[in-house]
Amino acid sequence: MLKSLPLARLGVVGGGQLARMLAPACNAHHVQMTVLDPLHNSPAGQVAYGQIQGALHDPDALKALCEQSDIVTFDLENVGADILMTLADQGVEMIPAPATIRLIQNKFAQKCHYQASGVPTAEFIDIGDDPDFAAVEAFGLPCVQKAHTGGYDGRGVHVIRSASDWDRRLKTKSFLEKFVSGGTELAVMVARRASGEMVAYDPVEMVVDPALNLLDYLVAPARVSDALRVQAQELAKQTVESFGTDGLFGVELFVTNDGHLLVNEVAPRAHNSGHHTIEACVTSQFENQLRACLDLPLGAVELRGVALTANLVGESGFIGSPVIEGLEDLSQLPDAHIHLYGKDECRPGRKMGHFTLIGNNHDELIQQLESVRRSLVVRGDTPQ
Ligand SMILES: Nc1ncnc2c1ncn2[C@@H]1O[C@H](COP(=O)(O)OP(=O)(O)OP(=O)(O)O)[C@@H](O)[C@H]1O
Ligand SMILES: [Mg+2]
Repeated sequence: MLKSLPLARLGVVGGGQLARMLAPACNAHHVQMTVLDPLHNSPAGQVAYGQIQGALHDPDALKALCEQSDIVTFDLENVGADILMTLADQGVEMIPAPATIRLIQNKFAQKCHYQASGVPTAEFIDIGDDPDFAAVEAFGLPCVQKAHTGGYDGRGVHVIRSASDWDRRLKTKSFLEKFVSGGTELAVMVARRASGEMVAYDPVEMVVDPALNLLDYLVAPARVSDALRVQAQELAKQTVESFGTDGLFGVELFVTNDGHLLVNEVAPRAHNSGHHTIEACVTSQFENQLRACLDLPLGAVELRGVALTANLVGESGFIGSPVIEGLEDLSQLPDAHIHLYGKDECRPGRKMGHFTLIGNNHDELIQQLESVRRSLVVRGDTPQ
């Protein structure tokens, strides 16, 4: 089919690290990527064809992005979904559909959707915004309190094991979910395009830092049986299919003690658990996100080795302009890849980048990770 170039003007709502990592795929395809972000010189704005500076809920800013774009996609889900739904009704092509973004924004609505669609998920009840402890005890401890909206990176999630945990509860509209004690968390990236073609990457195992409720590192492929791996891919595809829209999705799963899979949540965009795909898979999650947007045949998702990805977060005790130490040690490893996100301010715990290690087996990579972590530090230039 004859196509004129540039192939498309792609608008991205949000100019964070995910849009920044989408830029190489756009450039390779002669796609002009414009991002909308409130920050001047946002991580993606630094490398994109263009940036509109504006709030992600601002109707004028979203309209301006749509006017400059043939297709609109997302770097995050905390965006003005109602406005986007109106713009989509007026004919702007959005992948995924903003109705799905809106559904996913509300974790409680997302859970109800899974229940209604026959997607297995941990048992839950709504407790609104003024619950008492008796309701929590009746549901059963331990459990997890989750905010309906606004949570990310573990904020908006609070594990309740005792009355004193309850005293420190989230003071917002929330629901309770049964605590899943299996201890293994998987994630599967899925891409789907308009033709209906879908691909699911190999499940990755997310190793979570229990103190921060934040991803510590991930390993691909997950250290589970082949049968469970295939089941996870099938469930992830079923979950994406339930939304009936296209794009790239990160499906987070729990493995229960008795080996069953439950869907935790879905990100309707590129995801931390797919960062290894940049170097470790035939086609990266970002390239497949772009192909899904352009309705091009999706690329192969095979792994070319074992991979481990870890976030680089700001060291505690420092703020200010970012500085990095220990890059030499990482760089001398045989198959190590760094991604720094171009953020101009570093705070404790802020995601500043990630790195991926590729090798032949998990144990070797975990050893490499431990040695890298002894020297590689990103922090602000000023002690707090
Ligand atoms: N029902 C549960 N049982 C056990 N652990 C849970 C449960 N729900 C959440 N967690 C833990 O808390 C982490 C964060 O929860 P969740 O993914 O729902 O929140 P989030 O704020 O969207 O996090 P992120 O942005 O890191 O994905 C999970 O990865 C898991 O480790
Ligand atoms: Mg999560």
